Amino acid sequence: MNRDIVCIGAGYIGGPTMAVIAKMNPDRRVTVVDINAERIAAWNSPGFDLPVYEPGLVEIVKETRGKNLFFTTDIKAAVEGSDIVFVGVNTPTKMFGRGAGRASDLQFWEATAREIKSFAKSDKIVIEKSTLPVKTAAAMDAILNDRAKYRFTVLSNPEFLAEGTAIKDLLSPDRVLIGGPQDDAGRAAMEAVVDIYAAWVPREKILTTNVWSAELTKLAANAFLAQRVSSINAIAGLCEATGADVDEVARVIGADSRIGPKFLKAGPGFGGSCFKKDVLNLVYLCESFGLHTAAEYWVQVIRMNDHQQERIVSRLFREMFNTLANRKIALFGFAFKADTGDTRETPAGVVARLLAEERVRVSITDPKALENAKKDLKDVDCVTFEPDEYKAAEGADAVVLMTDWRHYPSLDWQRVFDLMRKPALVFDTRNCLDAAALRKIGFKVLNIGK
Ligand code: NAD
Ligand code: UGA
Repeated sequence: MNRDIVCIGAGYIGGPTMAVIAKMNPDRRVTVVDINAERIAAWNSPGFDLPVYEPGLVEIVKETRGKNLFFTTDIKAAVEGSDIVFVGVNTPTKMFGRGAGRASDLQFWEATAREIKSFAKSDKIVIEKSTLPVKTAAAMDAILNDRAKYRFTVLSNPEFLAEGTAIKDLLSPDRVLIGGPQDDAGRAAMEAVVDIYAAWVPREKILTTNVWSAELTKLAANAFLAQRVSSINAIAGLCEATGADVDEVARVIGADSRIGPKFLKAGPGFGGSCFKKDVLNLVYLCESFGLHTAAEYWVQVIRMNDHQQERIVSRLFREMFNTLANRKIALFGFAFKADTGDTRETPAGVVARLLAEERVRVSITDPKALENAKKDLKDVDCVTFEPDEYKAAEGADAVVLMTDWRHYPSLDWQRVFDLMRKPALVFDTRNCLDAAALRKIGFKVLNIGK
């Protein structure tokens, strides 16, 4: 078996993960392949104009690209040349047929398995890097090993990195999870993958389990995180009704070591490509096994999240004298969180659409996500895109801060106020601005959970 690695899928997961593996394993050749030629061209661009923005990523790609990290569309050559195959293709929610709106659409995964099988010229370890429903490995094993010339061992190695901190999370993960068959071939394959990570991750943080536990753990971990966000947002509504302050409540709940302080920030609700998709996937699994009450429990996590964005628009409506038509509202931030250009499932997208339905003139500004915002909202009239925050706010009745970009608190808010129509409203859905200072300038200020 050779030590070289191929990763199929050069997206948010494949690119950064393989860049770090290449950096930490300089003696291994790491090849990342994708069917999207434009994406591969961007990974290979001479000016390092990479398709994924992550702090620290470009430095690692500069260090490794062309040495032991390669990006290509030639899947055949890449699969032939490597015995360890990671698969990090997309697994969106299925939008048709059985399980529509809930189950994972596994067509990209299946196509990839068939490609691996047809191009293989030796035994391979095939690793699920994508997030997949429990038991996918069994389906893959059946496809790969049915009348196969070579032996394929399917492992699950889900990824826990968060966008915006991908490189930090990859370099010092809380844990790495590798699940595999509990037989000699499975254990040997798991050991081969442990070796890749052991180049920089302490052994005690590399956890091995059976395949089904690994697949389910990934869905469960995202569901728990999403559930925390929905729980604190549910409390936020109650804080607004009672005069409690959600940040104070969160600080004190989080001081209980059994609960812990992370993931208790109330806001516009969770976005990102995975939480909703993975919770829905869990719901579908529960339903498939007849666990309907468990399914309903997880559905509520999504309902609460949707409600949070509807609540933002309802509050704007109330505060702006029950009429929004023809008003101008500036959305500060469109990415689903700071430090990423990713806008998949972003709460700002939902709010922009709800405002557009009310015939609001929406102007959107974001330091990294404006191009994606334009694509996401290409079917929506009365939306404009403006890289400069001050221009976005010019003539606006309200600024709604949607993403907690670090520089927003230090904008010249007096200048923003002077540019806006009066009365001027700021709705800080991330509770990251100095509300007292804003009020002193003359703004009316709304927060979440205050
Ligand atoms: P993505 O859409 O950014 O990237 C997937 C890539 O796979 C695309 O570039 C696509 O062109 C490529 N692809 C699809 N079919 C292919 C094929 N047959 N051959 C070659 N390439 C193919 O998706 P992503 O955000 O990287 O997510 C990938 C998986 O990782 C998902 O299952 C997701 O749940 C999981 N995941 C993502 C994150 C994250 O932060 N984005 C974190 C953990 C897990
Ligand atoms: C999340 C998980 O954190 C990762 O462990 C996982 O690997 C990844 O999903 C995945 O499977 O794709 P990510 O979606 O990139 O990572 O970002 P998070 O930091 O988890 O934030 C998700 C959303 O929740 C964001 O919209 C964020 O603003 C929101 N959030 C997060 C809150 O509203 N409050 C919080 O306290 C934390």
